[in-house]
Amino acid sequence: MRVTIFGTGYVGLVTGTCLADVGHDVVCVDIDAAKVEGLARGVIPIYEPGLEPMVKANHAAGRLHFTTDAPAGIAHGDLIFIAVGTPPDEDGSADLQYVLAVARTIGRHIERPVIVVNKSTVPVGTADKVHAAIAAELAQRGVEVAFDVASNPEFLKEGDAVNDCMRPDRIVVGSSNPVAVEKLKRLYAPFNRNHERIVVMDVRSAELTKYAANAMLATKISFMNEIANIAEQVGADIEMVRQGIGSDPRIGWHFIYPGAGYGGSCFPKDVQALARTAQHSGYRARLLEAVESVNDSQKGHLFELIQRHYGDDVRGKTFAVWGLAFKPNTDDMREASSRRLLAQLWEAGAKVRAYDPEAAEEAHRIFGERDDLVLCDSARAALADADALVVVTEWKQFRSPDFARVRQALADGVIFDGRNLYHPDEVESAGLAYYGIGRGRSLRSDAP
Ligand code: UDX
Repeated sequence: MRVTIFGTGYVGLVTGTCLADVGHDVVCVDIDAAKVEGLARGVIPIYEPGLEPMVKANHAAGRLHFTTDAPAGIAHGDLIFIAVGTPPDEDGSADLQYVLAVARTIGRHIERPVIVVNKSTVPVGTADKVHAAIAAELAQRGVEVAFDVASNPEFLKEGDAVNDCMRPDRIVVGSSNPVAVEKLKRLYAPFNRNHERIVVMDVRSAELTKYAANAMLATKISFMNEIANIAEQVGADIEMVRQGIGSDPRIGWHFIYPGAGYGGSCFPKDVQALARTAQHSGYRARLLEAVESVNDSQKGHLFELIQRHYGDDVRGKTFAVWGLAFKPNTDDMREASSRRLLAQLWEAGAKVRAYDPEAAEEAHRIFGERDDLVLCDSARAALADADALVVVTEWKQFRSPDFARVRQALADGVIFDGRNLYHPDEVESAGLAYYGIGRGRSLRSDAP
């Protein structure tokens, strides 16, 4: 099928590449000429495992094209996807200016019937706005072209996006138009294996489904962080509690890891946006507000543990920080917990030696040159001349360090483990002090 995708950001690029990989003829349109030119040469602007060879192979095979020429893109596609950004505006609502700009461009140029598909995460009711924007442009041109707007939210995880796209657990198609449903079913047939994965529903339900999925996952995390904070107070170990509840299939093992808070481009923005959507519709989403506020304080929790150890005086101390990205396997630092921690450490007069396997460049872009930050080339280099270690992102390579060596490197011999990667006993037996998240056991003065 002939597909056009507006936006070669994370979602647009991964989706376009996967659709090309199963044989569709895909044109990706972006207004950023340098990015388009780079993509055509195989330069991928994001770090995503497995994506680069797929982009190159499908581009070389002539199934994946990149262009800034919007009219040509619009002429190409039977299905036109909108996959541009929806950043939060001042009150946390999703800003639709980019989505609606694409809609107007489509309206200015379509000549034959098309199905427009919203892939961007957009508030309930956006398909109607996109429909109205296209219709207004058509009216201005004085032409009539049949078109419809469907919703088809993505459920990609950064770091595993290619896999999520190639092997989706569900494909949500929001449309009450049989032609659109049929086209989207044909488009996704190659991904719909073994059992039916396509769930067809009305547009508004599809739009809400995306927010509900992310809000549910964020809720699980904030819930566990809340229980972790209780565990810390009452002298229990959240890791034991986690194992004690995860085996109940109604609860499940996924997304019950306490930590330094959730970050990234989706959860923080989507929980906020859903709360605003609710508010604008006249309903106060108290649970979502709580999820957001628990996460906000959780991002400051590592620093609280640091203060618990050092008192108020960390001035002049040097902290080795392992992990800057908001999660492993990405270089993305949007809303990352590391950003809050670094800001707090600097504010308190401490210095940072940080290592992240992928995010150094991004960190440099965000923080620039400063005296109180050294971006190191390895986990071990970050430890040199440091007083304490803080683990912020759970990269695999941080999971089993040589604690004796860590002990030797750190002047104050203390680890703050923001992702509960280590067993307190193992760390403590190497002569290090240990602070984890929700591990009240190791904080109790009467602990064995
Ligand atoms: C998320 C959703 O998982 C995905 O389905 C949606 O399409 C986009 O948003 P992503 O933001 O890439 O994907 O990352 P994810 O792996 O979900 O992690 C989000 C954050 O939650 C990370 O900061 C992670 O460290 C944190 N997290 C996750 C926890 O703190 N505990 C957990 O148990 C799981």
